[in-house]
Amino acid sequence: MDKIKIIGGNQLNGKIYISGAKNAALPLVCSSLLTSDEVTLKNVPQLSDITFLNSLLKNLGVKINESTKLHDSQIIKAFSYRADDIKELIAPYDFVRKMRASYYVLGPLLSRFKHAELSLPGGCAIGARPIDIHLSSLEQMGANIEIKNGYVVADAPSGLHGSHIIFSKASVGATCNILMAAALAEGITKIENAAKEPEIANLIDLLNGMGARIEGKDTSILTIEGVKKLHGTEISVVPDRIEAGSYAVAAAITHGKIELINARAEHLQQPLRILEKMGIGVEEKNSSIIIDGVGKHIIGEDIYTDYYPGFPTDLQAQFMALMTIADGASLVTESIWENRFMHVPELCRMGANINIHGHASAIVRGVKKLSGAPVMATDLRASFALVLAGLVAEGETIVNRVYHLDRGYERLEEKLKGVGANIERIRESD
Ligand code: EPZ
Repeated sequence: MDKIKIIGGNQLNGKIYISGAKNAALPLVCSSLLTSDEVTLKNVPQLSDITFLNSLLKNLGVKINESTKLHDSQIIKAFSYRADDIKELIAPYDFVRKMRASYYVLGPLLSRFKHAELSLPGGCAIGARPIDIHLSSLEQMGANIEIKNGYVVADAPSGLHGSHIIFSKASVGATCNILMAAALAEGITKIENAAKEPEIANLIDLLNGMGARIEGKDTSILTIEGVKKLHGTEISVVPDRIEAGSYAVAAAITHGKIELINARAEHLQQPLRILEKMGIGVEEKNSSIIIDGVGKHIIGEDIYTDYYPGFPTDLQAQFMALMTIADGASLVTESIWENRFMHVPELCRMGANINIHGHASAIVRGVKKLSGAPVMATDLRASFALVLAGLVAEGETIVNRVYHLDRGYERLEEKLKGVGANIERIRESD
């Protein structure tokens, strides 16, 4: 398994191009199942999660064409999907086990083909991750759902119908699944307490571009008037706010200055304000953000993760890495996932001073320096936090289990090398 080796201490300066968002691309890809026409997605990040979801769609019978073009000297990928000859209505265990977001096929398949089977996703490193809200909402829309041999077996012989659904939690995944299902359902669906993440807005734009009738974008109440048929269209994947936030911390932690090209400041308001409170310079431009940590004194600050537009749970670990070398104490409260402090013991092995209280809170007391060590993380964002710690630590850090990073950070070493990091991938075939 590949590893990443980092020699810490370099100040990072320059520009980093922000890719399309993984968490936006995944439901967009599955929306292509709603029509027999071609749906084209531009600015798709080159990530193992996308490759993986594409192979699931191919398995269902979707034809996929890939193209690349050069923009701002960046290779930008586009994929065209045509679901005009679907042969399978099953997302098997082997796919769902490797990638939970495979559950995004459930809403579109059930809505268009009246039947779908999905291996029930289990928990994962960050929590139990139930999908009860997805399932009960589909039941409210007329689906008959059974759990058989570890599979969700969903039928809607006379099709799905509109319903008034109130989510108990503002779930990103359930909002996407029900939006896709409701687009082809008969009548009007109203979702209350819907998620408002920018990735949802991207999905609404795609679905409306396909002929859906969805109102309430960027609000927690979405109204979907079902249509009989959707057609092809094309759309760009929104820039990845979590990738941008992760590299913002890379600039701050190394006391460097990085311009995040193609980043959308409006999607990162809470994290940018926290960076400013921590003493870091932030300049918001039209289509970029400049993060300036040069000569800055980094001060501890508290964060509380919450649904968008609150502080994103997907940046909690990266900000905690920054807090480890800040002056003073920081309190981190994780309100979304029940087990998202797996990076803490690894950061402590590098010299950080962090105490976890219960499941949801951690106190970080800043230390003067971190020291390099072999480390490993159990999820994507925690792995990036260890890379950040490695960038500022004295000596060598080896980050194991790089496959987590490959799921969500496009060309990570190349991007960090480009701004001056001493980082390389050690390829190992075992
Ligand atoms: C999405 O996960 C993201 N994944 C996650 O990013 C992100 O952490 C999360 O949203 C929160 O922002 C993708 O977009 C692929 P949820 P999702 O449904 O949709 C509870 C990353 O690092 N819940 O919004 O699975 C759930 O347990 C990943 O890129 C139920 O109780 O998250 C959690 O406490 C990790 N029942 C809360 O809601 C349900 O049926 C929010 O989960 C669904 C969710």
